[in-house]
Amino acid sequence: MSTTPAVAKTNAVRAEGLWKAYGHGEAQVVALRDVSIEFATGQYTAIMGPSGSGKSTLMHCLAGLDYTDHGVVNVGDTQITGMGDKALTKMRREKIGFIFQQFNLLPTLTAEENILLPLGIAGKKPDSEWVSRIVKVLDLGDRLKHRPSELSGGQQQRVACARALASRPDVVFADEPTGNLDTKSGTEVLRFLRQSVDEFNQTIVMVTHDPVAASYADRVVILADGQIVDELQSPTAETVLDKMKHFEEIVAAKEEANQAADAGEAR
Ligand SMILES: Nc1ncnc2c1ncn2[C@@H]1O[C@H](COP(=O)(O)OP(=O)(O)OP(=O)(O)O)[C@@H](O)[C@H]1O
Ligand SMILES: [Mg+2]
Repeated sequence: MSTTPAVAKTNAVRAEGLWKAYGHGEAQVVALRDVSIEFATGQYTAIMGPSGSGKSTLMHCLAGLDYTDHGVVNVGDTQITGMGDKALTKMRREKIGFIFQQFNLLPTLTAEENILLPLGIAGKKPDSEWVSRIVKVLDLGDRLKHRPSELSGGQQQRVACARALASRPDVVFADEPTGNLDTKSGTEVLRFLRQSVDEFNQTIVMVTHDPVAASYADRVVILADGQIVDELQSPTAETVLDKMKHFEEIVAAKEEANQAADAGEAR
């Protein structure tokens, strides 16, 4: 028997019973249906599922970028459900890093200024040793004085990665971070995200459509029609691809079940 004391696993993010609908009446789209999920500290999770299955909505609700209709979201020890806009903005600055498909860098600022901007806005002093380390790992040392227009797509996304990690956030949310990159640049970004989990115990939640990108994660969560329908541990590109082959069947079955449930409720 192992004598190693059990290390309590903490959750960086925890959501329970999330519901989210857009629009009203006939035009209403239910984007999340009773989603409960936990993201352990230091874990790298990929969220997959067909277009429109609710991946971005889930991520926005977890990150306090959007409000849920029902359910509770906790980021670390803080319940963010019920917070007002101001408190949410502060929470995001302190606890969350974002990486978007479109990089979202400010064009008039240099790479370095972009990296340090969120810290500046939050009124925090950068930990220069930490920032230097990230810049080194991302191989951005000789690009810091360049503006985004003077950088390749891959370099811009690496700047966005550095910006997301500069404040040592509790969790990094990445929505298709490699969606606009060629394979080589995409691989560099994915390797960095993996390394930040292995070496810095970073928590990452990443939406992707790419089975190879998903294989960098520790687990894959699959959404269909606003619900979690499957989960894979220690994914490989092959096991993910195998799941994706059945997406259409899974979605058809979910949609049918959800329509029947909705019709039952409406009666
Ligand atoms: N602001 C909005 N207003 C109305 N409907 C919306 C809005 N945002 C999302 N939806 C709908 O909610 C559902 C889930 O959308 P979401 O963007 O979360 O999907 P996704 O899984 O991220 O898709 P993709 O892979 O295409 O990015 C879709 O049916 C979408 O049309
Ligand atoms: Mg999306």
